[in-house]
Amino acid sequence: MKFFIDTANMEEIKQAYELGVLSGVTTNPSLVAKEKDVSFHDRLKDITALDFESVSAEVIATDAEGMIKEGRELAQIAPSITVKVPMTPEGLKAVNVFSKEGIKTNVTLVFSANQALLAARAGATYVSPFLGRLDDIGHDGLELISKIADIFAIHGLEAEIIAASIRHPQHVTEAALRGAHISTIPHKVLMQLFNHPLTDKGIEAFLKDWNNR
Ligand code: E4P
Repeated sequence: MKFFIDTANMEEIKQAYELGVLSGVTTNPSLVAKEKDVSFHDRLKDITALDFESVSAEVIATDAEGMIKEGRELAQIAPSITVKVPMTPEGLKAVNVFSKEGIKTNVTLVFSANQALLAARAGATYVSPFLGRLDDIGHDGLELISKIADIFAIHGLEAEIIAASIRHPQHVTEAALRGAHISTIPHKVLMQLFNHPLTDKGIEAFLKDWNNR
């Protein structure tokens, strides 16, 4: 399973990039809205200057025609730009056009296996089931990952599953076990993945022994 970072913050992206574990970035309008001092397009230029496989940029239009126009403009920024489109009938019309034009897409706000299947059939490059938001309403987000992974395997669908709306390290481990191709993770959770008290204790003991030799 690959790691993407779920943020539009350049400092967080650079820090995570330097760790050498990151394959891509996902943004959404709420994350971009937190970045006050820079335009969306300029931020995308900065992010795509790093060698990522995919940088998701979401369209704001709600009709297919508007999404296609916005998506084509975003795709001009860099080859890694992946047009993020909401899981609606209009969104999938746009995904179908983008797939024929060779523009990568990420279908977002996926909350059911049928939605994921529809998105894959429309030609999506990535589908993004939102684990945390399902858990928030008492559903099982991880169970959805298992179902989508099984359906894609049974039917030979090539769309990659991005486990999104990740809230804690256990989501990451379980998403990997259940067949997600990618987890997109907030910076805080990415850093939590490094932690183990026995690692800290071990380093402390090694240093103490070294200094007492
Ligand atoms: C993914 O592409 C989304 O931007 C993101 O994971 C949503 O997460 P949230 O539910 O924490 O807002």
